[in-house]
Amino acid sequence: MNILAIETSCDETAIALLKAQGGLRAPKFSVLENLVSSQIPIHRPFGGVVPNLAKREHLKNLPLLLQRLMIQDSRIRNKKILDLESSFMNQIDLVTVTVGPGLEPALWTGINFAKELASKYKKPLIGANHLEGHLYSFLLLQKTGIMIHDSRIKNLFPAVALIVSGGHTILLRVESFSKWRRLGETRDDAVGEAFDKVARLLNLPYPGGPEIEKLAKIGNPSAIAFPRPMLHEKNYDFSFSGLKTAVLYYLKENLNAKKTDIAACFQQAAIDVLIAKTMRAAEAYGARSIILGGGVAANAALKKTLGLTAKKAGCAFFAPGKTYYGDNAAMIGAAGYMAHLQKKKCPLKADGTLDI
Ligand code: KG4
Ligand code: ZN
Repeated sequence: MNILAIETSCDETAIALLKAQGGLRAPKFSVLENLVSSQIPIHRPFGGVVPNLAKREHLKNLPLLLQRLMIQDSRIRNKKILDLESSFMNQIDLVTVTVGPGLEPALWTGINFAKELASKYKKPLIGANHLEGHLYSFLLLQKTGIMIHDSRIKNLFPAVALIVSGGHTILLRVESFSKWRRLGETRDDAVGEAFDKVARLLNLPYPGGPEIEKLAKIGNPSAIAFPRPMLHEKNYDFSFSGLKTAVLYYLKENLNAKKTDIAACFQQAAIDVLIAKTMRAAEAYGARSIILGGGVAANAALKKTLGLTAKKAGCAFFAPGKTYYGDNAAMIGAAGYMAHLQKKKCPLKADGTLDI
């Protein structure tokens, strides 16, 4: 089925067109178009996302992105089309839009836009969960078809999934593409939020994750002994606010400290905890694979070390392709497809704290 997906939960306006098939047991996604309009330069002077600015930008960007998507799609199909919008919408089987979690004013812009479009062309519309999008994002592949070989999909479960973003740090035990249980989560800051806050302490621009990673590459990860919060506790929860405070105190007491070493040691401490808890869960639950998702999955050190550690433990490792770490609409298309197959009744209203 052809899916049009819309994502406006935070500071990226995103629209995607994808083909989905295979059903709940072996879903396959082919991403035909995946457009993201980032608002980072607009929020950067404020050091974080300003919800009303995000809303204003989504309202402006949504029609422009849809227009671009339709033009690109009509080129692919190599047709001269007079009524672009209705020709485009005729091929759509399902419209899906993020309903949460996220910033509610931002979410509403996408929901209202999707409602109008779906009702104008009498298309089914389903709400999608942003976190489920991150969970499924490893299944996405640009244009060419199927990324993961069917045999690997068959041996995927049980899996342990680590979702790491600016708002969440969640560990799940995943039984199937439609069944999972939360094992643990952060008790305070999300890991992406900790990267962003530490970056601010180091006077680096927003978003801080990529900036910290750049500095960390040339720093010494053993120069400073930052704490590994909750590493030895038997639960699967995380805590990152103490680590951020340790960086703050270190900076106060060491005025000439090298930013590169601080970045490398902070990143190492955060990664150590994420990997240790994920692997402990994998062992406890006999996981056959580890799934990584969310914006922080862009961190090459995390992805590489988790991948190697998983392999050593005999687990397969799955992470999203480069385009799909951060917020995008293709992953919402995947979440919408799965919700549609399960006939999920997700109300079409913004829910800032929607759970996975
Ligand atoms: O999933 P995402 O795009 O948005 C949310 O749903 O929150 O994640 C954004 C978060 C930000 O906190 C950002 O700093 C972090 O992901 N991030 C990174 C990297 N790239 C983005 N964190 C660490 N290393 C990176 N390379
Ligand atoms: Zn996200």
